[in-house]
Amino acid sequence: MAAIQLGFLLFSFFTCIRIEAQYVMQDAELVHYVDRRIISMENRLNKCNQDIADYVEEFQEFSKRLMSRLEGLNVLKTELKNDVNHLLTRVERAQRDIYYFESAKESPSPCVDVDEDLLEQQLTEEQESKKKVKLMLNASCNYMITGFKSLKVVKKSGDANGSWLKDPGKNYQKIYFLTGTKNKIVMEFANIRAFAESGNKHLARRVALPFPWQGTGHAIYNGFLFYHRYGSLNEIIKFDIQNRNATDQMLLSGAGEIPAYELHPSTKIDFAVDELGLWAIHAEPDIARKLVITKINHETMTVEYTWDTTCRSQNAEAAFMMCGVLYVVYNSPGGASQIECIYDTLDVISPYENPVIRFPKRQSSHSMVHYYPRDKQLFAWDDGSQVIYKLLTRQKS
Ligand SMILES: *[C@@H]1O[C@H](CO)[C@@H](O)[C@H](O)[C@H]1NC(C)=O
Ligand SMILES: *[C@@H]1O[C@H](CO)[C@@H](O)[C@H](O)[C@H]1NC(C)=O
Ligand SMILES: *[C@@H]1O[C@H](CO)[C@@H](O)[C@H](O)[C@H]1NC(C)=O
Repeated sequence: MAAIQLGFLLFSFFTCIRIEAQYVMQDAELVHYVDRRIISMENRLNKCNQDIADYVEEFQEFSKRLMSRLEGLNVLKTELKNDVNHLLTRVERAQRDIYYFESAKESPSPCVDVDEDLLEQQLTEEQESKKKVKLMLNASCNYMITGFKSLKVVKKSGDANGSWLKDPGKNYQKIYFLTGTKNKIVMEFANIRAFAESGNKHLARRVALPFPWQGTGHAIYNGFLFYHRYGSLNEIIKFDIQNRNATDQMLLSGAGEIPAYELHPSTKIDFAVDELGLWAIHAEPDIARKLVITKINHETMTVEYTWDTTCRSQNAEAAFMMCGVLYVVYNSPGGASQIECIYDTLDVISPYENPVIRFPKRQSSHSMVHYYPRDKQLFAWDDGSQVIYKLLTRQKS
């Protein structure tokens, strides 16, 4: 009986264990299943994150493209607006012209009186402003060039292109020698004899500039050297030669984009000094490469007045000012120099009176020509020679 009981007990015990084991196995399967689900969910989550990241990136790319398109459209809009404005002013001007023309045609009408008044007023205003300019320029000198009296080759030294100068205001005896189109050493000689006789350079004082120059257009006035700074579009340096420091600078707006004279392309800004003071000469691309002259106040380094001249830059090699008149020297490569265009800022010389004045030498290539009022002569650099031309003049008519 006991054995049966034990057997039963054992049996139920084992059954219990089996059921227990079954449960354990079922739990393990469940855990495994849950694990798998979690892993798969994790994978899907990762994929989802990846997708989102991709979307974000794509969206950023798209918005960047959109922004740049919008920017482009804005630029176009501004350009269009400018064009329209420009067109409007031109239409307005044309309308005004037509109006004038029409009212001038319909002779005896009250309109004409009004217009004549207006015209008269305009004329007086123009005359007033011209008078002001004249006063400003102090047009005390009143002569013009008729020809050349003589030529003297003072020396042959330096590069093919360069510049030699005097100071028409102060220390009139001194000679300054600036060889080359890009350099920063100025040689100063006590006088023209020292310059002419200096085979060796001991007779000269060397002055180093803070910045190199561009071209051969420099000028000296009242102890200062004025020059176009190399590497700048249109910066003008005012350099105190005695104290050896740059004291001032200014920008000559509109200048520097194209050469002043087609035959000497390194000079973008040329300077001139005459009886009336300091001038700059340059050319601008959008006014048919005609020369523009600017009266500069050498003390304040500001623009006093600007003239668009009728003289062209094509085939020009140099120019200079005398009594407020621009004289432009033209040439052809290997040819002879001649003054072919003059422009009077004071309107005394008629623009139709345009004599051709030939230089007294067969072949020449001037990289600079400067006028010196005190002895009515020109200093020029002619293909490595330093030349003086004496001038014939007469009263302006
Ligand atoms: C021109 O300048 C001179 C000397 O600089 C002066 O005596 C004269 O009064 C000036 N003339 C005019 C019209 O300003
Ligand atoms: C130039 O030098 C002079 C004399 O040494 C001095 O008086 C002047 O202030 C200097 N100018 C500049 C801009 O440094
Ligand atoms: C001098 O200028 C002329 C004209 O621009 C040019 O043809 C020539 O190469 C220049 N010579 C030198 C040495 O720079």
